[in-house]
Amino acid sequence: MKLMRETRCSSTRPASAARPVNTWAGDPTADRFEQFWTLQAVVEGAADPQTGYVCDVRELDVMLRDVVAPLLREYCGSADDLGAVAPALCRAFEAAVGACPVAATLCSITFVVSPFTRFEVHVKDGAMVRLTRSFEFSAAHRLYCDRLSDEENRRLFGKCSNPHGHGHNYVVEVTVCGTIDGARGTVVDLPAFDRAVQESVILPFDHKNLNIECPEFAELNPSVENIARVIFQRLVRVIERGELLNIRVWETPKTYADYGPNDASAG
Ligand code: NI
Repeated sequence: MKLMRETRCSSTRPASAARPVNTWAGDPTADRFEQFWTLQAVVEGAADPQTGYVCDVRELDVMLRDVVAPLLREYCGSADDLGAVAPALCRAFEAAVGACPVAATLCSITFVVSPFTRFEVHVKDGAMVRLTRSFEFSAAHRLYCDRLSDEENRRLFGKCSNPHGHGHNYVVEVTVCGTIDGARGTVVDLPAFDRAVQESVILPFDHKNLNIECPEFAELNPSVENIARVIFQRLVRVIERGELLNIRVWETPKTYADYGPNDASAG
């Protein structure tokens, strides 16, 4: 089974010798004005029959705080562009494999750089790094099947079938996977990637009525599942570097849909 542990730490200063527990903000950022990094490790193993633990999460805290964070500070702590992150995370992942608790196998490490950008190294990806960027748009839609009566639509979709539509603030997480560009360190050309998302998804969808103004939804119900699929289809044509690995669309903080290459090949 898999276990995830998150540690928060300062981007510039190591944790104090006092070794606090893994608090809400992490040491020393809990009471200081510091840039705050979030690191996550996923490990896999069997739960011990007596303790019920795959491993002691305090050992994962030590691995993230004392092995991963110092390497990230060394290689990208003072960098002013994201190109330094992917190579640094690959180095840190290699070191973390050696420092992982013996009972567990390290599957991945995620470096949450900001609420809108995260990098991940997964053991199964080989030398590739995953990058996820978050974007937002607001749009109106109506869930409705024109072959059904108004009454049947109301029964099937409830208030989501209101004839005048309703709106959501959608959050789109775009994940790409790629090898590191030796010269620039990036897995994608970030300005080109952001431009592709902006031009192919955000501008056509933001502040629009999806049913009326987006051609894909003329016949297709704009459910969050179908919105994820349409965004994948739009982006897979225009992302120039890296493989488009997943589109996650959050319709509300309680609902998201994922769509990826396996879904596309399944039709
Ligand atoms: Ni809705």
